[in-house]
Amino acid sequence: TKSLTVFYLKNEEGKKELILDQNNAEDDKDIFKEKLEKSVEDITNKSLFSLEIDKRSFVVVPVFCQCQVHGYLGAEDKTSDNAVEGMKIADQLRFLSELTTISLEKFLLEKVNRDLVINEEQNRIANEIHDGVLQKLFAISCGVFGIKKNAAYLDTKKITDELTAIQESINDAMGDLRSTIYGYSWKKNGVNNFLNDIYKLIDRTKNFHGININFETKGNLELISAEYKKAFYRILSEGIGNAIRHGKASSMSIQLNIYKEDVFLKIHDDGIGFNPDVLKETKKQGLGIRNMKTLTESLNGDLQILSEEGKGTSINIEIPVKLQSHKEEFYESVGCR
Ligand SMILES: Nc1ncnc2c1ncn2[C@@H]1O[C@H](COP(=O)(O)OP(=O)(O)OP(=O)(O)O)[C@@H](O)[C@H]1O
Ligand SMILES: [Mg+2]
Repeated sequence: TKSLTVFYLKNEEGKKELILDQNNAEDDKDIFKEKLEKSVEDITNKSLFSLEIDKRSFVVVPVFCQCQVHGYLGAEDKTSDNAVEGMKIADQLRFLSELTTISLEKFLLEKVNRDLVINEEQNRIANEIHDGVLQKLFAISCGVFGIKKNAAYLDTKKITDELTAIQESINDAMGDLRSTIYGYSWKKNGVNNFLNDIYKLIDRTKNFHGININFETKGNLELISAEYKKAFYRILSEGIGNAIRHGKASSMSIQLNIYKEDVFLKIHDDGIGFNPDVLKETKKQGLGIRNMKTLTESLNGDLQILSEEGKGTSINIEIPVKLQSHKEEFYESVGCR
């Protein structure tokens, strides 16, 4: 094809762009483009056609991408007296057209995949920030409010203690934020981190909100997989946050039991309660309960909200067990149900 003029007239979102490789340097690209555009205007749905521009013949094939014409690929045909050579050019163009279609569609697919991955990552970041850092910032803000309100009656030691607790929570929140940003898998190392983190969460709630939480657990919590721990921690943070913000609860009880077949989590508060049916209205839905449900369902579990106005709220979650270590070892160590 080196001795022939070849072109690709790109037709993307109605805008036409011409890529021209010409053997006749005197061709004016703009004039050629104008004439070419006019000639292809009337041609629809043909897989191969010929064009006459300035008394020169061109064989042209459309290039499709996702069932739309992405552009026209053409080559000069100087073989009017040689049908076999003419067919060769046409075949080459058809082949190139198919190849281009495959490449374009692959490129588009990769872009869609890239966008999906970005979207998923955005959701993960938003959800983790909501369930972790935001809850901690809320507790910190309540702690600061408490100090401001009672500053006149608090002695220096008490203020220092409260500020130290707040500082620890800020450091914790910064740690969470870092994990979220870098996508660390949750608390990979450390043996008793999960339980420690729950106790810290409970202590923080007691200190900053004055709420008493009775926490009971059965079975060896450290045996459940990191994925479960991360989900439970996020669910607990949100459940506690909701009980304080919406329920105005004064006490809570949390049960986390690892049984032979499943894990059971119950978060109960003695707050004002609500009618769970309101969650069916989209505008009443927040991220919190939706995230709790998504996390539970991602582990094939089931979440029930039992609440009534004036009668507190219970969130019951049951998830089939998936252990970190061998199941048999686990049965021996827990010895329940
Ligand atoms: N423990 C609770 N006590 C009373 N009402 C609750 C409780 N938990 C949830 N609700 C009600 O359910 C609604 C939805 O809760 P959800 O956690 O999904 O959203 P949110 O807390 O309003 O906002 P977000 O969690 O996105 O910050 C709340 O607005 C509140 O009306
Ligand atoms: Mg919430």
